Amino acid sequence: MMNIITTIDELQKVIKEMKTQNKQIGFVPTMGYLHEGHRALMKKAREENDVVVLSIFVNPLQFGPNEDLESYPRDFVRDQDAASAEGVDIIFYPTPAEMYPEELSVTIQVRKRTDALCGASRPGHFDGVATVLTKLFHLVQPDRAYFGKKDAQQAAVVEGLVKDFNFPLQVVPVDTVREPDGLAKSSRNVYLSEKERKEAPALYRSLQLGEELIDSGETNPETVISAIKDKILTETSGEIDYVNLLSYPNLENMDTIQGTCIIALAVKFSKARLIDNIILTREQEEA
Ligand code: PAF
Repeated sequence: MMNIITTIDELQKVIKEMKTQNKQIGFVPTMGYLHEGHRALMKKAREENDVVVLSIFVNPLQFGPNEDLESYPRDFVRDQDAASAEGVDIIFYPTPAEMYPEELSVTIQVRKRTDALCGASRPGHFDGVATVLTKLFHLVQPDRAYFGKKDAQQAAVVEGLVKDFNFPLQVVPVDTVREPDGLAKSSRNVYLSEKERKEAPALYRSLQLGEELIDSGETNPETVISAIKDKILTETSGEIDYVNLLSYPNLENMDTIQGTCIIALAVKFSKARLIDNIILTREQEEA
């Protein structure tokens, strides 16, 4: 039977009991409105742990003043069904007042990996993510925590948080779930018009083109970026927000493509802004 817990007191009691029994805890933090990407995280957590904890909490701290906190989609009944189908043991579903009874006197400030990609246009967003995850990691005390590679910048920030603050847990990045035509699954895909939906798989194809160029020896990031931009502009009506090629997980610009890097893009369609990325490793040239 899946246990739905809404209070911190109750969660701490249950987790203490699990720890006494030496259970391995897998944790999937979410803001609810679960889609197939979340399902992949729950599945992996189920495979690798004795107990799976899912949190559903729309975290006000990570929304900017002009962002969609109020209108962020919520459907707890449907989420329960998805969680139960994936074998989740505990859903932690607190209210904002339970998580933040008063304004926090201490918050986490993320100092690196935030000024590129989506972080550039969302000041403070990753501070809010890191702050809520710090609370959640303390409460759930997971052995493993699961994050989608689709939000690669978030995964990179979380790697930094876990390393710098010595959380005794493993961050498990999980592959992006895609439609058969390659489009990354996202709750925002429903906002695409019929024409845009047909065009949208070109985003992933353009990332694959970038990867092919790198595989065939291209080392100049600018050449790869412009080939990707050309393809997006030719094959879609979307407006490019960014196409970047950066080191991963540090998310720094590179003069020459080497080591592990990420090609990431964000493209605005009429009612949806889509993001996607590929993480790849180019072996260092022998000296
Ligand atoms: O990816 C999300 O849904 C959120 O950023 C997270 C990790 C649950 C923190 O609120």
